[in-house]
Amino acid sequence: MIRLENICFSYEESEALKDISLHIEKGQTVILEGPNGCGKSTLLKIMNGLIFPSKGKYYFEGEEITHKKMQNNVFAKKFHQKLGFVFQNSDVQLFCGNVEDEIGFGPRQMGLTEEEVHKRVEDCLDLLDIQKLRKRPPYHLSGGEKKKVAIACILSMNPEVLILDEPLNGLDRESRKWLLDFLKQLKSSGKTMIIATHDEELKQELKDVVFTM
Ligand SMILES: Nc1ncnc2c1ncn2[C@@H]1O[C@H](COP(=O)(O)OP(=O)(O)O)[C@@H](O)[C@H]1O
Ligand SMILES: [Mg+2]
Repeated sequence: MIRLENICFSYEESEALKDISLHIEKGQTVILEGPNGCGKSTLLKIMNGLIFPSKGKYYFEGEEITHKKMQNNVFAKKFHQKLGFVFQNSDVQLFCGNVEDEIGFGPRQMGLTEEEVHKRVEDCLDLLDIQKLRKRPPYHLSGGEKKKVAIACILSMNPEVLILDEPLNGLDRESRKWLLDFLKQLKSSGKTMIIATHDEELKQELKDVVFTM
């Protein structure tokens, strides 16, 4: 489903990724691990089509993902529907006036009917157990609440692949446990997941493949 072949990437001066190759099958959970600065977030951004390798190729469902293709709005939209990215910092992901608009944003962008958008919003509010947050502005929520809303926003588009960058970072014990259980449920429902994490418990309980960078 995902194929990275000899990927290299450099920021202005520093080389962040060197010759990374990785194959991911549908339904697998892949844990990306490695010390701070080893390039996990950079690799996830490449997989999400936000940046592009300076060398090497990235294929999603057999199609090479290039800068040129991602500049095509129709292609980019379809791609982001299939592959949802939960950023490490939820603040960069949340921008609407309230939680229900935030969760409905993706489905509206997809051109679904208002009825279908409404249904997806309700389903995601239930799934993440955040009904009581629906009218709240996202920027006033706690860290754990923001993380739940950010995940709901991605799941409302029903992506085939879910990419999470250090999802447990900064969460208190209760939110952490809740999210760990939630990710286990997603895994057993057959979602393909790619998770960058330092969390040993998350790794042990979810891994199909561990990729050490
Ligand atoms: N926007 C950026 N500009 C320049 N260098 C960056 C940028 N983002 C990350 N880097 C550098 O690239 C390397 C990999 O970073 P990153 O992918 O964030 O690693 P990780 O997620 O594993 O901690 C680090 O050396 C980091 O300093
Ligand atoms: Mg990172």
